[in-house]
Amino acid sequence: MALEIRKPKIEEWEQYKALRLESLKIFPLAFATSYEESLNDVDEKWMSYIKSSLENKESIMLCAFIENRIVGSVTVIWSNRIKTKHVANLVGMFVNPDYQRQGIGKELVLKAIEELKAFSQFKKIKLDVVSKNYKAINLYESVGFEKVGELHKELFIDGQFYDLVLMELIFKD
Ligand SMILES: CC(C)(COP(=O)(O)OP(=O)(O)OC[C@H]1O[C@@H](n2cnc3c(N)ncnc32)[C@H](O)[C@@H]1OP(=O)(O)O)[C@@H](O)C(=O)NCCC(=O)NCCS
Repeated sequence: MALEIRKPKIEEWEQYKALRLESLKIFPLAFATSYEESLNDVDEKWMSYIKSSLENKESIMLCAFIENRIVGSVTVIWSNRIKTKHVANLVGMFVNPDYQRQGIGKELVLKAIEELKAFSQFKKIKLDVVSKNYKAINLYESVGFEKVGELHKELFIDGQFYDLVLMELIFKD
């Protein structure tokens, strides 16, 4: 099974939408965005995520493809404001359960780091992750992210509060 990591094309938006909605449904603790809210998003919004990535317009979305089917994704977003344009945020990381534990998540994050390093503007990537999501924390640590803090009771999901771990990866000059 050949793995390809690349930005999705506009015409692949429905595939991306299907996988993203599935991941929001089955991994509610992994994302601040909820399945119910995303269900109402109009088609143009889904397409705009891909369009903005293709234009490197404050985001890059990468997908993992196996035989032309999307099996995972990660997005980095940033703002071009003068004081913060050196910081990228890693969001929307997921791999379809049938394809987990095969190195795909790691490849996605490594490719995102490589893409960001190709722009001279970035000095760091940051992210937050639910403190009990040890799989994701292990993955981020395996590519060099470090835990730098914790926010308590940041997410409220199905009647329970969850803490977030903050992580960052500083690019060495
Ligand atoms: C977290 C996630 C993206 C990992 O993807 P993956 O493709 O399975 O990860 P990889 O196979 O590339 O594993 C890379 C490293 O992650 C860690 N890891 C992944 N799955 C793990 C597990 N089940 N138990 C412990 N560590 C795990 C390990 O350190 C692993 O390195 P190793 O295989 O050398 O031990 C995947 O589990 C997922 O989609 N989870 C649900 C969504 C989610 O939590 N997203 C993160 C939001 S912050």
